Amino acid sequence: MDKFVIKGGNRLCGKVKISGAKNGSLALMPATILAQGTYNLFNTPNLKDVRTMSKLMTALGIYTELNDNNLFIDSSSINSFEAPYEHVKNMRASFYVIGPLLSRFGEAKVSLPGGCAWGPRPVDLHIKGLEKLGAEINIENGYVVAKAKGRKLTGAKINLEISSVGATGNILMAATLAKGTTLISNAATEPEITALAKMLLKMGAKINGIGTNILEIEGVSELHPTDEINIPDRIEAATFLIAAAITGGSIVINNCNPYNLTSVLGLLEDAGCKIDINSDSISLSAGDGINENTIIPVDITTAIYPGIPTDIQPQWISLMITAKGDSKISDPIYKDRFKHIPEMVRLGGNIELIEHTAYVKGGHKLTGASVMASDLRAGAALVIAGLVAEGTTEVLRIYHIDRGYESFENKLTCLGADIKRVKTDLV
Ligand code: UD1
Repeated sequence: MDKFVIKGGNRLCGKVKISGAKNGSLALMPATILAQGTYNLFNTPNLKDVRTMSKLMTALGIYTELNDNNLFIDSSSINSFEAPYEHVKNMRASFYVIGPLLSRFGEAKVSLPGGCAWGPRPVDLHIKGLEKLGAEINIENGYVVAKAKGRKLTGAKINLEISSVGATGNILMAATLAKGTTLISNAATEPEITALAKMLLKMGAKINGIGTNILEIEGVSELHPTDEINIPDRIEAATFLIAAAITGGSIVINNCNPYNLTSVLGLLEDAGCKIDINSDSISLSAGDGINENTIIPVDITTAIYPGIPTDIQPQWISLMITAKGDSKISDPIYKDRFKHIPEMVRLGGNIELIEHTAYVKGGHKLTGASVMASDLRAGAALVIAGLVAEGTTEVLRIYHIDRGYESFENKLTCLGADIKRVKTDLV
């Protein structure tokens, strides 16, 4: 097992290239189930989650090969409609395969994902949506067993009670090959869903309302393969910006889409950072150096896109620990996503959790300690805190970080951080 060893105190300065979006790839990859043939998915990040999805697709009979961020996929020989527990338990996004399998082959058997580090994460909206499209669904031995009546789904009107990213993606994929028209209202408008819809269009799907919360899909009898360029990772971009801000640094992030980050950029400006944007780059400068942290406290409440993403909540808490004043962080999307707080307290943070809201007393100097990542973004937030903690911080269980950040420590090192990946027996 690996850990990160960080010596705090260096300002982040320089340029960093943002990778392709993890959540973009995890949506585009299963779309290739919908039409047999070969695909090149460019700008695919080399991440553990992408490798997990590849393994799952291999189990379905799909060939995948990742070279230099180009993911080649051949979906000509799908010979199984079953997504086994071993792949789904490690990554909830594996559930994405159920919609396309059911739509193209009329059947699918996919393990129920179960909970995650910060509590239950249901898939009831995925299931209800697929049922509305005419699927018969039973839960058998921990698996969702789905069959389309007459092996063909039928268009329907589906209102998502919660604007779920995964349920929107799954139902959208399923509807492309259904008979008739599907309307999805309260659909997720996250950029990764828009990217998926655009790829489906290139494959021959008929979709109106892309980028809005009402999607209209007119089913077609067949789709065809396509090449596609994945979008940049907005959460990785936000993570580097927050990391630079906490160190009083000055960085430029390239290969990103500033427009997908509007809410986060607004927050960083409110926190006192200077931000400039170009078509595909963002520059940030904060304060005058590590000892002159000028971060202003800013309260946040996470929301669906284009609101503040839940995936930056832990990193924002790290920044707020060092801000000049108190702040309040609420996460109504994932109410229990606060496992990082006790670890941040170990680094010297003054944070109290009251009924799903973190109250942060700012202005605290952090001191290095051993801490443990409980999930992907919590891990990133602990690394960010370690960048300004006095002395040495060890972040354990960084396999969580490897799920979603490509070359994290190398990119941080290039920006001037003192961070090393070290083997450890500690778990
Ligand atoms: C996706 C992202 C994840 C991000 C999240 C919210 C991927 C692979 N992952 O996860 O990084 O944190 O969006 O932006 O894209 N819900 C239900 N029933 C369901 C589905 C969801 O109640 O069937 C609830 C969830 O508990 C949560 C909310 O809906 O409170 C939003 O979840 P959702 O948008 O579905 O998240 P994911 O697609 O799992």
